[in-house]
Amino acid sequence: MRTLRWENQVSVYTVDELGESYRRLYELAYGAAREAYAPYSRFCVGAALLLENGEIVCGNNQENAAYPSGLCAERTALFYAGARFPDVPVAVLAIAALKAGKRTDSVTPCGACRQVMLEMERRHGRPIRVMLCGEKEVYEFACVADLLPFSFSDEDLVSRQG
Ligand code: THU
Repeated sequence: MRTLRWENQVSVYTVDELGESYRRLYELAYGAAREAYAPYSRFCVGAALLLENGEIVCGNNQENAAYPSGLCAERTALFYAGARFPDVPVAVLAIAALKAGKRTDSVTPCGACRQVMLEMERRHGRPIRVMLCGEKEVYEFACVADLLPFSFSDEDLVSRQG
């Protein structure tokens, strides 16, 4: 038996410490959260993407009475970016949430969203910085891979097929 260890790192900023570009994405993510369609959970999530060509794409969670038919904010935004700008890498992804209309602590993406975020990162071969926004603080990960260690990816498919 052997044990593997790995290190991880996250930068924690107060909202006042954010630079101009991050501050803008922070507010855009909350703006998108305000427009979420979440009548069942009332947990409103917004995502704001900064693409490498300077475009900004926002998305929010879209729920449905048949619950699994809904989609998280992150995937709504990422799939739209993939549809609209298929060749443009994503530079930054900011995520924010409102519970009963109030800003939550730093919100973290669900497993399915992490998987989709990772594929977008790998597809373009460019790190996506991830901002987990909260009322007072923002957690910044340097890349999606740091949020999803031991992940399944396209490489697994290739090696399994021999
Ligand atoms: N949700 C997101 O939009 N993103 C996440 O990362 C976590 C959860 C949404 C899905 C659902 O509409 C609501 O939040 C409650 O789970």
